[in-house]
Amino acid sequence: MNFEFTEEQLMIQQAARDYAQRELIKDVIERDYKAEYPAHHVKALAELGFMGMLVSPEYDGGGMDTVSYVLAMEELSKVDSSLGVIVSVNNSLVCYGLEKFGSPSQKEKYLRPLARGEKIGAFLLSEPEAGSDATSQKTTAEDKGDYYLVNGTKNWITNAHSGSTYLVIAQTHPQKKHHGINALIVDKNTPGISLGPHEDKMGMRSSDTHSVMFTDVKVPKENRIGEDGFGFKFAMQTLEAGRIGIASQALGIASGAMERSIAYARERKTFGKFLYEHQSVAFTLAEMAVKIENARNLCIKAAWLKDQGKPYGVASAMAKQYAADIAMQVTTDAVQIHGGYGYVKEYHVERLMREAKLTQIYEGTSEIQKIVISRDLFR
Ligand code: CAA
Repeated sequence: MNFEFTEEQLMIQQAARDYAQRELIKDVIERDYKAEYPAHHVKALAELGFMGMLVSPEYDGGGMDTVSYVLAMEELSKVDSSLGVIVSVNNSLVCYGLEKFGSPSQKEKYLRPLARGEKIGAFLLSEPEAGSDATSQKTTAEDKGDYYLVNGTKNWITNAHSGSTYLVIAQTHPQKKHHGINALIVDKNTPGISLGPHEDKMGMRSSDTHSVMFTDVKVPKENRIGEDGFGFKFAMQTLEAGRIGIASQALGIASGAMERSIAYARERKTFGKFLYEHQSVAFTLAEMAVKIENARNLCIKAAWLKDQGKPYGVASAMAKQYAADIAMQVTTDAVQIHGGYGYVKEYHVERLMREAKLTQIYEGTSEIQKIVISRDLFR
């Protein structure tokens, strides 16, 4: 067993760290406050190759492995997890889904610009009444011969406004239940698509989240991914990959909070001693370190399994559930260590705590991950 990263993996980690610590940090508090999309950072990260880092060079991607992706996502999310989710949805949901399951012509047309970061993708599965219960899709994609007619509403869509390539999950044959669902590539500029207002979120405020409404939207048949009825399996398999991204994001939020707590514990004195000299603080930091190490190992294991071409669905669910849950615990403790300073924006940890909460909710709640894990126990 080899626990060492390769030189290339370490270089990618360092490049992400440098960009996050040098550039993202400058305006992260302000962007969070204003809920402002980080367009200039997305452009810069595209130039550095991060927007399509997992896509093969054949389709203009970075050709990096998933372990490198985990390391990069952790570094970006330590500082700005809004940017983390933009990178994650583009890479491990949209680009991954297209590269793995798209046809050669779909990849040529849609994957290349996404891999270069010239376009951004969004994954449209959740609905007002089908978030966790993904089989209950109400959006319809009626088969009209050479096109599908799409009607319905999707909710909580990351990159809905900034993105222009949508992967839309919709029901074509309701009598067949989940076997009648299709996945369609839809250009956001297609007539009949409209967006709801920008969601004023508690955390990750600078990633854009909207509802998307479809009214008689015509989607060419050639934009269906895979065979008729493959859409639900497509969504499930793509989410397996996506969960590694969100797990690494949660990991980054937790390790960012720990690094800030260590720095604060070194400089702040109470009762004549530095904070770290109080055993209660030192032990809390030790507990954080163990949780983060465990979360990182789960993320890396899921990524390694994926890179080896081995089944990784349960591993990615474990990584997502654990990393998200400990991110919430670690950030809560980080605020406590900072005392009153933890409750104001300047020290970042209150923002990290708000961000951690979302990782327990999206791309499958912690409870959904437990369904995936526990079902495997009884398979
Ligand atoms: N790979 C391939 N097939 C799978 C699969 C997987 N990982 N998981 C399930 N399936 C298949 C099953 O084999 C089954 O097929 P058959 O009927 O042919 O045997 C079919 O899918 C239905 O499976 P289940 O009976 O297990 O389905 P279920 O209704 O019990 O639900 C679930 C399973 C795991 C709870 C699933 O609904 C789920 O993952 N829900 C959460 C969805 C989710 O993550 N939503 C978040 C939206 S995306 C997002 O947040 C993006 C963003 O913008 C940030």
